[in-house]
Amino acid sequence: MTVADILETPFLAGTAPPPAKAPSFFKQLRLANGNQYEMLPMAVYEQPIFQPKGLFGRMLWVNDPDGVRRVLLDNVANYPKTDMEKRFFTAMFGEGLLSSDGQTWKTHRKVMAPSFDPRSVASYAPAMAETTLAFREHWDALANNPEVDIAEEMKLLTLQIICKTMFSSDADDLIELTGKTLGFTQTALNFNLLDILPIIGPRRLKAKEDAIHADFAKMDAAIYRMIAEREKNLADAPKDLLTRLIAAKDPDNGAGMNATEVRDEVITIFMAGHETTAVTMTWVWYLLSQQPAEETRLHAELDAVLGGRTPTAEDVPNLPYTRMVLEEAMRIYPPAPGVSTRVALKDDEICGVKVRKGTQIAIAPWVLHRHRTLWDSPEVFDPERFNVQRSVGRPRFAYLPFGGGPRVCIGAVLAMTEATLILAVLAQRYQPRLKDGETVALQTRITLRPKDGMKMRLEKRAAA
Ligand code: HEM
Repeated sequence: MTVADILETPFLAGTAPPPAKAPSFFKQLRLANGNQYEMLPMAVYEQPIFQPKGLFGRMLWVNDPDGVRRVLLDNVANYPKTDMEKRFFTAMFGEGLLSSDGQTWKTHRKVMAPSFDPRSVASYAPAMAETTLAFREHWDALANNPEVDIAEEMKLLTLQIICKTMFSSDADDLIELTGKTLGFTQTALNFNLLDILPIIGPRRLKAKEDAIHADFAKMDAAIYRMIAEREKNLADAPKDLLTRLIAAKDPDNGAGMNATEVRDEVITIFMAGHETTAVTMTWVWYLLSQQPAEETRLHAELDAVLGGRTPTAEDVPNLPYTRMVLEEAMRIYPPAPGVSTRVALKDDEICGVKVRKGTQIAIAPWVLHRHRTLWDSPEVFDPERFNVQRSVGRPRFAYLPFGGGPRVCIGAVLAMTEATLILAVLAQRYQPRLKDGETVALQTRITLRPKDGMKMRLEKRAAA
């Protein structure tokens, strides 16, 4: 590399300046295997509303917090998810929260909400911490400074955690089955521009749908078996997420969910709740390895508050810098870089721009979190942005890792608690370092992940 190359190489992966102009359709197809958001032109990051010249109907990128608020909250009834997204989510999750709409969604959300409130989440925390401790022992048992793919490691850990949180001790059989099914489904869900072409598009979509159905059959059978077992003796069942979902009742009329509805929600929670947390943690390790000063501050907080012991749910509010590290990591690398595309049912107006019925609305945390009008030096990892003083006055809809409005992530508290506990357990002993010569590129597959994994050396901290 020449000196000029080195100077032009961005410090952190995915932080190169956006192109002045979007690449051609064919170039976009060629680059579709990476992170599509990196192809967006600079104007998206500068304008409140961006209207690309599209080949396939009218679309608006809404990048202004008031505009986002209008779509996700103030006029939410006018902006349901698009039929294409609903169709695919339904192929996997049936009528689960991600895919359902209207009264079904409303009832399920109400019935499920208590299982995700802070009190319930606190009751899952011991299983999360214990699973992470066991996982750290698996790291301890590896040879000195072993090299691992940290993206795969985090996927395995979060899968183990969601399985334990959901199924307690019955989880072991399901871990492998679920991991395979979800991995496959993510690949099948790799949408690109070919999927919206006439003739080819519908055929590709149908083939993906069929593949998803076939792949879910085994996992479904295992989940139905487990629901039936639990229903036989609910009173003595462990108080995990599965028991709570089976027992949950609508506070207004006492109605609960049947086995199919519980199955749909179980799959939804798996799919929505494990890879997202895994990629969050992967990017956290990457960022800390690149910025030792921030890592040292994190270690100092963990050492001062925990002194080497296992963290609990009660410790979480006492770890503000840990929280800031997680929040800033999700700003630069939002685990869900785009929330589901919405479509306007009726004419509307967003930030003074007329929206015609049928217009597709793209809202992307990736764009919002790097928007030039909302953040200083958005390409810099600076956890202190999220301290109390600097957060004052930031619009709620400028920062959207968990979405917003009534369809905000139901698992947000659970995810933050889980990520804090994982970071607190593992960073007390380890400071992973990127393998020499490892280059990191981004890829979007619903979640934002490192394209070819991320090889890291598991260095033990000197103090540990
Ligand atoms: C860091 C981790 C996570 C991130 C970044 C994340 C992000 C999101 C986002 C952006 C949405 C809104 C999508 C939209 O409006 O189109 C969402 C919805 C959802 N998330 Fe999460 N999520 C995370 C973890 C979890 C966990 C741990 C669970 C469950 C255990 C979960 C369950 C769900 C469900 C069920 C929905 C649909 C909610 C609804 O439509 O009512 N998520 N998530």
